[in-house]
Amino acid sequence: MTHRITICTSCRHKGTDCRPGYELIDKLRTAIAAAGASVPEDFEISGVACMAGCDRPCTVAYHGTKKATYLFGDIEPETDIADLVAFARQYAYLHDGWCASVDRPGKLRKATLARVPAAIIALEESEARAS
Ligand code: FES
Repeated sequence: MTHRITICTSCRHKGTDCRPGYELIDKLRTAIAAAGASVPEDFEISGVACMAGCDRPCTVAYHGTKKATYLFGDIEPETDIADLVAFARQYAYLHDGWCASVDRPGKLRKATLARVPAAIIALEESEARAS
């Protein structure tokens, strides 16, 4: 199973030219490596130019094969790395990636911009409902 975290490298802090995405990528890679086996899956962490959440910088997405995709906003490299690592650990254990907002760590409870079900699972559920 493939797990990825994608971080926007174009987001700017409001009113500044600061683009914290690269700092977020560096800090998150370091923190996930330091977490070792406590995060039970490998996460590929990479940047992308924009994920259409520009009003809520920085945006961060979690995706995995056959798992729900999440898009989080308002993520700061100085304060939110621990929550991102905690969610990577949680996400690795969720077989379909689905979890309620109250179960997400810390700031990620209120910083979720989207939660999209995995295509294959959504298809199976709609076929089950139709039959
Ligand atoms: S610039 Fe970051 S989501 Fe658009």
